[in-house]
Amino acid sequence: MTTWDYTQLAPTYSHRPPYAARAVERIVTAGGRSQPRVADIGAGTGHLTLGLVQYGCSVDAVEPNDAMRSIGQERTADQPSVHWRTGTAESTGLPQGAYDLVTFGSSFNTTDTTRALAEASRILTDGGWMACIWNHRQLDDPLQMSIEQLIQERVPDYSYGSRRADQAPVIEASGLFSPVTKIEEAFVHDMPLDDWIAAWRSHATLQRQAGALFDSVVNDIEALVRSKIDDTIRIPYTTVGWMAPRRGAL
Ligand SMILES: C[S@@+](CC[C@H](N)C(=O)[O-])C[C@H]1O[C@@H](n2cnc3c(N)ncnc32)[C@H](O)[C@@H]1O
Repeated sequence: MTTWDYTQLAPTYSHRPPYAARAVERIVTAGGRSQPRVADIGAGTGHLTLGLVQYGCSVDAVEPNDAMRSIGQERTADQPSVHWRTGTAESTGLPQGAYDLVTFGSSFNTTDTTRALAEASRILTDGGWMACIWNHRQLDDPLQMSIEQLIQERVPDYSYGSRRADQAPVIEASGLFSPVTKIEEAFVHDMPLDDWIAAWRSHATLQRQAGALFDSVVNDIEALVRSKIDDTIRIPYTTVGWMAPRRGAL
């Protein structure tokens, strides 16, 4: 498994956009339970956790990284239905059969997915569901296309890797969850330009692949965008994900 260390990215991570409300709603209502108990795995700074709370969930947020978790704890301090735990997707430390829903907000690709799915199945109730989601910038938007072009020029082998891969075969191959439903919900996110640039400084995939070039690539992205936009940027996103019920529960 790749080691994904978010420590340096934690301070700017909260600038990332929320997930499409409709996507969160679909996940929360999939199992037909009101106020589901959720294990949010790789909860980070609490982005998905906060969305889940808005739909009435009580959430045990599991996060291995101290820097990410402590920001998440601060952001959810006024939410009595959120409890934070130190753990990983492969070994959550959570009780067996206790959750209606296990979620992975942009974190499934950081895990050993075979072990993560086995652990999700262990902690779910009969009739429980798993869901993994990501926010994808719509790369056919003209401004986003020019950013992509810049990245490809500076980091020629750049790839989004499993962040943009089809997870249905992975989930089905586990034999633990079926059938798999795809989620795709588009939204537009308006963002202060400064926050958008800060979000790039928390882009783990670019950081890993750009290596020593990371700061200069982000500086170039900043210069490009500032040459076209004044203070607020409109970014088209799609929340993309997959969800499935635990097998044996059908
Ligand atoms: C891209 S962030 C997503 C955070 C948050 N869920 C969100 O939606 O914004 C991925 C998170 O997964 C965590 N992570 C890395 N490896 C993990 C593992 N093996 N199990 C669980 N979480 C992991 C990272 O520390 C990081 O906080």
